[in-house]
Amino acid sequence: MRTAEQVGKLVDRWRSAGRRIGFVPTMGALHKGHLSLVSLALREADRVVVSIFVNPTQFGSGEDLGSYPGAFNEDLAKLEKAGVHCVFSPSVDEVFPDGFSTSVNVSGLTETLCGKYRLEHFNGVATVCAILFSIVKPDIAVFGRKDAQQLAVIRRMVDDLRFSIDILAGEIIRECDGLAMSSRNSYLNSSERKQASVIYRGLSRATELVSEGERVAERIYDAVREVIGTAPLATIQYLELVDPVTMMPVEKLTTPALLAVAVYFGHTRLIDNVILNR
Ligand code: PAF
Repeated sequence: MRTAEQVGKLVDRWRSAGRRIGFVPTMGALHKGHLSLVSLALREADRVVVSIFVNPTQFGSGEDLGSYPGAFNEDLAKLEKAGVHCVFSPSVDEVFPDGFSTSVNVSGLTETLCGKYRLEHFNGVATVCAILFSIVKPDIAVFGRKDAQQLAVIRRMVDDLRFSIDILAGEIIRECDGLAMSSRNSYLNSSERKQASVIYRGLSRATELVSEGERVAERIYDAVREVIGTAPLATIQYLELVDPVTMMPVEKLTTPALLAVAVYFGHTRLIDNVILNR
């Protein structure tokens, strides 16, 4: 479906029939990570809407909006096979009609990690999700834990703006060598792809250190940097231990904290994270 009106009418019919509505927002180029979010939505709801919309407002200038991978027909086939009830693929004008001038800014937790480097990114994500939530009016919406900061931002926005939507988190799905699945993995050349598994090895080293009793963030960073540093093509953009709800830096592990990392391989920026639990 292409228009908000079509989706709104369909969802209203489902709701009148007492159905619980699930929603998975995506930007397409679907992989097993997305499909696991879809499976979770299908388990938790009677009817599931998946949106495919490459949201221009969450890409900064110089980012990969123009080259973002697209595979619309393949995506539709995957979603149909998965048993999704409606695919919503609006045009940019449908989502941001002429005169659109609102931006949702979730402050504080957007200022660390990715927010430091992608200045308008989370405003773009929060704004488009608020619009999509208003169109689809789901009972539940599913987001992946790989984008942990995005998940925290959406949860904060849903609480603050009183959307009555349960936000569910889907686990990170990994390739055999541990690389977290991402549409952007397709940008990696074969040497970069080979070395990219070092991110997961670095995060796993952190988990191991914590299980041996390490609690100090700086010492955890040193160990992770040492592992990631073994890949000559990797450049760490950030590596930070933060509170999983507020995204504020944590110096010492006293309660579960999120160790989040962004690493460049050439022009490709990959993110990953792990919860460290003392
Ligand atoms: O995670 C994504 O793919 C996007 O940020 C989202 C949530 C679909 C909003 O455009």
